[in-house]
Amino acid sequence: MNINSIRGMLTDEALKCFMEIVYVDEIDSTNAEAARRIDAGKRENWVLVTTAQSAGRGRRGRVWLSPQDAGIYMSLVYRFSVSAENLQSLSLLTAISLHESLSQLGVEDLQLKWPNDLLHGKKKLAGILLDLRTCQTETYMVFGIGINTDLPSSVIGQIDQPVTDINTICASPIERTAIVASLINRLSENLNIFFKHGFAPFKDSWNKLDCYLGADIVIQNGETQVSGKSAGVDEQGGLLLQSSSGSRTINGGELLPSLRELNEASNL
Ligand code: BTN
Repeated sequence: MNINSIRGMLTDEALKCFMEIVYVDEIDSTNAEAARRIDAGKRENWVLVTTAQSAGRGRRGRVWLSPQDAGIYMSLVYRFSVSAENLQSLSLLTAISLHESLSQLGVEDLQLKWPNDLLHGKKKLAGILLDLRTCQTETYMVFGIGINTDLPSSVIGQIDQPVTDINTICASPIERTAIVASLINRLSENLNIFFKHGFAPFKDSWNKLDCYLGADIVIQNGETQVSGKSAGVDEQGGLLLQSSSGSRTINGGELLPSLRELNEASNL
């Protein structure tokens, strides 16, 4: 992957936000490397991109299979100079940014699943893992993003959920450098808005793209499950869940389709 070609596509705002872009052919995990560099004293915002990870990490301790050239794996490291509230909504902001960038490149019919999955036809196209890290008085957010571009069928068989990739859903392949650049551009712009106005300006975008809006869903948090009808997200990015016992706001957990839908799928 050519770093100069990525830099050439970045906006001034993005170049100001993320001054260094690094590409490596392979690494254990871009999020793990980002954490190591923060701990070693690296202070600036930067981006690490690779096309293979030997120990890619997913949410909730899962593995993110990352064989060579099956996807784009990247971490954007962003330092906060002010104490920011409501950081959990940054995962929604990242998903919106990814949606915007792929849509601009011609990928159609993408949808979002709370809190941060990008789906196509209810199959997962990309995942997001945010790691918050502090070092002395500084706080950093590591935005880890994995986008499936060309998953071999042997890998698809090892993943315990429906997945898809860019090459399957697009008529012609998209340059990986264009995807990386576009994502850095969108995230830089959205982060600048977020740190001025919070998540509120993004609420409507999320609710327009949320594929479970109005659906019966289950939220799993550890051993606890709560079910209800999704009423979309609020101005803080919390998920509004309506049930016969009233309405509640969910701020963490995993969204499952309703138990009925899950049971139907497992009976097929
Ligand atoms: C998920 O479970 O949906 C989140 C997947 C996040 C994967 C990305 S790939 C780049 C970065 N480095 C990692 O080890 N994980 C994230």
